[in-house]
Amino acid sequence: MSLTSLWNDRRPHVDPVPPAVAGEWDVVVVGGGLTGLTTAGLLARAGKSVLVIEARHVGAGTTGGSTAKVSLLQGTHYSRIARRHPAPVLRRYADANAEGLAWIARFCTEHGVDHQRRPAYTYAHGEKGARSVRSELDALHRAGVEEATWVDEVPLPFATAGAVRLDDQLQLDPVELVDALAADARAHGVVIAEGARVERVHGRRPHRVVTEAGDADADTVVIATNMPILDRGGFFARAKPARSYSLAFRTAEPAVDGMFLSADQPSRSLRDAPDADGPLLLVGGEGHKVGASTSEREHLDRIRAWTAEHFPGASETHAWSAQDYLPHHALPYAGPLLPGAEGILVAGGYSKWGLTNGVAAALALSGRILGGHLPWASAYEPWSTRELSGLPDGLRINAGVAVEMTTGWFHKLTGAIGGGEERPVCTHLGGVLRWNDAEESWDCPLHGSRFAPDGSVLEGPATCPLQLRPAEQDQPAGR
Ligand SMILES: Cc1cc2nc3c(=O)[nH]c(=O)nc-3n(C[C@H](O)[C@H](O)[C@H](O)COP(=O)(O)OP(=O)(O)OC[C@H]3O[C@@H](n4cnc5c(N)ncnc54)[C@H](O)[C@@H]3O)c2cc1C
Ligand code: FES
Repeated sequence: MSLTSLWNDRRPHVDPVPPAVAGEWDVVVVGGGLTGLTTAGLLARAGKSVLVIEARHVGAGTTGGSTAKVSLLQGTHYSRIARRHPAPVLRRYADANAEGLAWIARFCTEHGVDHQRRPAYTYAHGEKGARSVRSELDALHRAGVEEATWVDEVPLPFATAGAVRLDDQLQLDPVELVDALAADARAHGVVIAEGARVERVHGRRPHRVVTEAGDADADTVVIATNMPILDRGGFFARAKPARSYSLAFRTAEPAVDGMFLSADQPSRSLRDAPDADGPLLLVGGEGHKVGASTSEREHLDRIRAWTAEHFPGASETHAWSAQDYLPHHALPYAGPLLPGAEGILVAGGYSKWGLTNGVAAALALSGRILGGHLPWASAYEPWSTRELSGLPDGLRINAGVAVEMTTGWFHKLTGAIGGGEERPVCTHLGGVLRWNDAEESWDCPLHGSRFAPDGSVLEGPATCPLQLRPAEQDQPAGR
């Protein structure tokens, strides 16, 4: 079963037959999500010849499954950064996000993309959450987001223990935004090749970008695939792949006035979405590491039950799931794949705040290619000593990966020997896959690659399909 997001359902795209990929380009951008298309448009405006290669269709990745709050208030993310980095870095992160937000607001206004101004809230269910929210307010003030304030009264139909409020943030339909970015990029001469998966990129300039549908050469390659598909640089080991769930519900009246995210459990994200058929309420949450849940369906059911309790009468229209990557050092990256090598650049690690961060990363990368200087861009530098000093945390994540590898292989082995369940192995680095019972996919707990029942790649750093044996192909239907 594929869970289609409200946004993808509104503006259906199909994975096209890829056109022939060929030619010599100033820049090849890999990935047609928010980051890739924004980067491509910025570079084309500056006179660069740009080819975007997208494995499926524009918006098919995380952007098309986003909750699409475009906000400087980001749950408790500023305090997460503040625990790991000094105040100047935190400030630069806030400046980058403010620039991302302003850029999106301007783009939407100039290109007729529907968007709504809303107050954003990070709220607490209980006292523990309230302590986190107070720390967040403190971190926001240290970051220079002075307009953030504490409120005791939160406009939600259930009891809370207070919130941080920040007025005048944005919400939108991310697929409408992506379509407008693609149209604008094309209008500036960008060629977008959809349906072509990049398999590898050669390391020497001009870089040869190899796809199923032909090869293209580029002076610079930007890998905007959320998690970089190239293993050199080891970005897959720096971040945790986190999946979470969203549902849309029809309501008689707008059910919430604002964009909300809880600081404590149960983690819930709320916003409204204007719709031609009447208002919609979006409810999200239940995040977990990719491939690490015993039943993904149960997460959806928990959100359904919670919504029925707090918003009685809300009637479900859509349910879906998406994933993003949480870097151990909490900051996104936008810069070279390898230190000092400017020919292949990467961006990602947005910790579920990729609308503002994705645009900021695109501004940082295009500035890097064009020779500009953005004062906040150093916060996104992937090879700074600050970034590398997060290593102990990184090692912890990798210890988790090591455990997954060992236990996964143990289960696979015992399954094989004992005649029990046997599971396919990820084509990225050999993680043992787990069956996702909500989306009917094979998910990798190591770095988040996901595969359809026929073995084709859905997302993540893997670039090759699974070679399923007949027995494994039969498995999904029977579960
Ligand atoms: C449930 C959820 C809710 C979220 N809500 C918010 C929110 O409210 N606000 C916010 O700011 N952020 C939010 N985010 C995060 C945000 O949506 C993402 O960080 C952002 O959309 C990432 O954009 P991207 O362009 O970098 O990646 P993507 O949109 O994933 O684009 C990457 C593209 O690369 C393509 N690709 C992958 N591999 C290849 C290959 N080998 N060859 C060619 N193409 C390839 C993919 O098909 C995809 O289209 C949320 C994330 C999740 C998971
Ligand atoms: S995603 Fe890396 S091993 Fe599966």
